[in-house]
Amino acid sequence: MDTLAQPLISKTQAYEKQARFQNDVLSGLQQYPKRLSSVYFYDERGSQIFEQICDLEEYYLTRKETEILKRSARTIIGGMPDNTHLIELGSGSSTKTRILLEAALGQFELTRYSPIDISAEMLAKSAKALTKRFPRLQVEALAGRYEAGLAHFLKQDDTPNCIMWLGSSIGNLTRQEATSFLSEIHQNIDPRDSLLLGIDLRKDADILEPAYDDAAGVTAAFNLNLLVRINTELSGQFQLDQFHHQAVYNDKEGRIEMYLVSDRDQEVCIRDLDTSITFKKNEKILTEYSYKYSRSELETLTELSGFQLTKQWLDDQGWFSLNFLKPKDSVV
Ligand code: AVJ
Repeated sequence: MDTLAQPLISKTQAYEKQARFQNDVLSGLQQYPKRLSSVYFYDERGSQIFEQICDLEEYYLTRKETEILKRSARTIIGGMPDNTHLIELGSGSSTKTRILLEAALGQFELTRYSPIDISAEMLAKSAKALTKRFPRLQVEALAGRYEAGLAHFLKQDDTPNCIMWLGSSIGNLTRQEATSFLSEIHQNIDPRDSLLLGIDLRKDADILEPAYDDAAGVTAAFNLNLLVRINTELSGQFQLDQFHHQAVYNDKEGRIEMYLVSDRDQEVCIRDLDTSITFKKNEKILTEYSYKYSRSELETLTELSGFQLTKQWLDDQGWFSLNFLKPKDSVV
């Protein structure tokens, strides 16, 4: 974990990061069914491809969330105490957040914004751009894991905080994991603090599946980037044209499941792991879950984690939701 005042990533951290990637790749590919974690999508190239996904016609999530933010930013900020410290998880390029920051600068006397992101490169770039665009904004970016970042910012709690987690990133967690994560946050905040969560809603497979399998093949490239990383960082020998991208909506579980599917029987050597992995034709590697929520699933999530859903905003089609949560004990 480092703030931008220090070098972005130390040698030990880089080493630990690499070691964790190696271990996770090895154990994930030795399991059956095989899996690779979606946290590894976001190296520099992957983060760039993700930005392209956000501009796709089929990927409605970013558009819908922007629509809600544009319409309701003033009301959202208006519902927070003056000078609320805005902490953002997984800020990425901070594009959508600008709408909220502008509203905060208009309404708060003082606006503190603290983005936390695992991708140090992206964070440095966007923090710089934000400071330039909004000279009055106090930006303190922190590269690292969410838990560590939150612990850092929440201990200086002389001001109320709002923790923002946009873009439906919570969808990568199982419902159980999401509940634990929010409970953990609940235990570390004050009654004056709040949560602002962007969460994608359940809908028909014929809208969901194209959003995760676009015609231009951008999401396929995003998914295959995991194999590119193994090839470049671990001297892997994946042939990218021997695997294809697949996205299916599991309606019962309410989640998109993304896979990389082997096009034939094959054996792939990963030199730095001293191993070869065998694949049957059509064997899959699970790479991502993207959970969707119904209104009642949203209420269950908030209730079980100690929060109350005090306000919700939807886009015109009711596809995406922005949710304002307060600790249950703070609401009378
Ligand atoms: C960043 C997790 C919100 O699940 O919609 C986009 C990631 N994966 N296309 C999502 C993603 C494929 C995205 N999240």
